[in-house]
Amino acid sequence: MKEVQELQGKIRKNVEVEASAKRVAELGKDIEAFWAKRSETGAKSSKDLIAAATALAKAAGANDEAAIKDSGKLLGGTCRSCHDAHRERVGENVYKIK
Ligand code: HEC
Repeated sequence: MKEVQELQGKIRKNVEVEASAKRVAELGKDIEAFWAKRSETGAKSSKDLIAAATALAKAAGANDEAAIKDSGKLLGGTCRSCHDAHRERVGENVYKIK
């Protein structure tokens, strides 16, 4: 998640968007593998994350501003849907899986 956060930060700032999105999609495969047997919500969010990151990388490669915005928004939504379901705050900047 740490690396996902760094990448998402770059994407937000419009820095290395294509490369960052590709890496997020890659990490998404590990995230999906982790959740596949544990939770339907987790598995679905992971799939959505991969789809959004892949779309974002494509949009960035094509320099398509509108598509970059749309898929960036989608990507952010996938973070939230999994966090709402599976992330528990246990302290200042400390989270665990629930
Ligand atoms: C399929 C589930 C899932 C998805 C999708 C997901 N996260 Fe997480 N995230 C978690 C869980 C569970 C935790 C808490 C445990 C942990 O930190 O590993 C977490 C923790 C975090 C943390 C707290 C710091 C840390 O490393 O513990 C950050 C920041 C974070 N996620 C960012 C993101 C961003 C940005 C995205 C989207 C680009 C994202 N996450 C997508 C499940 C997910």
